[in-house]
Amino acid sequence: MLSGTRSSKQLGGQKLASVVYDEVTIATRVRELGREITDAYPDGELLVLGLLKGSFIFLSDLVRRIDRPLQVDFLVAASYGAGTVSSGNVRLLYDPETQLEGKHILLVEDIIDTGKTLNRLIALLKERKPRTLEICALLHKHIADHLEKDAAFLGFDAPKLFLVGYGLDHAENFRHLPYIASLT
Ligand code: IMP
Ligand code: MG
Repeated sequence: MLSGTRSSKQLGGQKLASVVYDEVTIATRVRELGREITDAYPDGELLVLGLLKGSFIFLSDLVRRIDRPLQVDFLVAASYGAGTVSSGNVRLLYDPETQLEGKHILLVEDIIDTGKTLNRLIALLKERKPRTLEICALLHKHIADHLEKDAAFLGFDAPKLFLVGYGLDHAENFRHLPYIASLT
């Protein structure tokens, strides 16, 4: 059960198991990641590419902690249905309008689970000839058999549980929670 300080109205009577990362813990780590990214990119154009929908809150907090010029665009890839197990089917529903060639591309992902989504996207993005291509993930379950490219910037080593909140959903619910909780 969640502690009394959480808004029970936000959950509308639905139950979550426990809070894994609270708001302060997330904010502290996102600030550090912003610093790491600022220091890692000395020159050149930086395009921060958010993978929707899961990264939308993380990305909006993160870019405000990066102290250098940058551009933002998004990718929409669908991998999961309403379940909690990765299907491995990754479809690109929205392709960034912005030119990627010659730019530093930082792909921002909410969570690396099986790695199937990233493996597919990395291959696609490499074809666009970016100057560099790196991954920033908020969470990493470290269960992927094979990753084409691992995260250069990582928020937290996550427990092997199904997590929701701060952008992460279960069947499109819970994205708006300001903390990250486990579903069961
Ligand atoms: P992968 O392709 O298995 O690495 O899955 C990547 C995508 O699946 C993530 O970007 C999430 O949208 C979703 N996902 C994986 N694990 C979780 C989880 O624990 N909670 C919510 N979504 C998840
Ligand atoms: Mg999802």
